[in-house]
Amino acid sequence: MPDQPSNVEIVTAVSGRKYSLNPKVMRKGTNAQVLTGKDLQTGTTVALKLVTRAIFEPELAILSHVQAIKNPRLVKLLDYIENYKPNYCIFVFPLYERNLLEHIVCKRNLAVSEVRKIFGQVCEGMQALHANDVAHLDIKLENIMLDSDDNVVIIDFGLAEVGRSVITRFCGSYAYVAPELLMECPYNPYKADCWSLGVLLFVLLCNYLPFDSNEDDVQKIFKKIRHQPIVIPFTVHPDACNLLQVLLERDIGKRATMSDIMSSRFLNPAPKPAPSAAQMKSVGPIAVVKQSLRTVRSWTPMPQQAVAVKAC
Ligand SMILES: Nc1ncnc2c1ncn2[C@@H]1O[C@H](COP(=O)(O)OP(=O)(O)OP(=O)(O)O)[C@@H](O)[C@H]1O
Ligand SMILES: [Mg+2]
Repeated sequence: MPDQPSNVEIVTAVSGRKYSLNPKVMRKGTNAQVLTGKDLQTGTTVALKLVTRAIFEPELAILSHVQAIKNPRLVKLLDYIENYKPNYCIFVFPLYERNLLEHIVCKRNLAVSEVRKIFGQVCEGMQALHANDVAHLDIKLENIMLDSDDNVVIIDFGLAEVGRSVITRFCGSYAYVAPELLMECPYNPYKADCWSLGVLLFVLLCNYLPFDSNEDDVQKIFKKIRHQPIVIPFTVHPDACNLLQVLLERDIGKRATMSDIMSSRFLNPAPKPAPSAAQMKSVGPIAVVKQSLRTVRSWTPMPQQAVAVKAC
């Protein structure tokens, strides 16, 4: 990375717009530094992702494809700067509030209704990507942002692939990679995304990763991904438990696809049954209307909920 600017700098983007660039790095990724800045014409605060040209060019090509999908759950590229410093370029994005890792660290246990909303929105974006032949290949908490209205935006297309049904390179974040990536064989990138969505759903529901190693030993994580039985805590909602089982499925032939996820019971909970005539009489019409408008927040856990998915 180049030396960080010590003062606010003004940079001109390809659109001709000028942006101020704050010297302080707001967040870091493996390949990028993200700074805040301002569009000097509108005064809007923006995020500026600083990367090397080698990272920039392929990511720009994929982002151009993603922009054409026009889905509110996919990051919007506002502008870019091709020659920030020799060999460095900048993407200009809307500035989002926080990523999902920061959100769950701050809130600790998310209510099942919130998990359903967040995961449902992530899947809306992923379904649009897959329907347009884009695989993300780096789904994880840090790459899902929440905007100021708490709506989901998928970011970081640095590892994404367009129009490929088979991939041979290893990519992704260790705790989220699908077991077939560890076999050093060609794999289906869409199926790999669905496994990562299973890891994401697990961590949203349970507050910990299903495959993790305290010692940060990558080989240990990989061994767990390939062989460790997946134990879902009994506190997990039964519909979520069923969805987790078909996402964290090592047999790719049996693993859920985006359309299976979208039609799952977890994302489409059964509406509350209409009250019977006897209930109507006993609570009175106004109370019944209030009851039917209330969101269902509680559920009864099934006794056999601690489910172990068989290792292959
Ligand atoms: N538009 C944005 N608004 C606010 N924060 C952002 C924005 N874009 C990225 N970030 C933050 O910066 C971090 C790094 O960005 P990004 O994931 O794009 O970089 P990367 O180097 O490709 O990451 P990775 O380590 O996942 O490969 C993200 O995890 C996110 O928290
Ligand atoms: Mg990232």
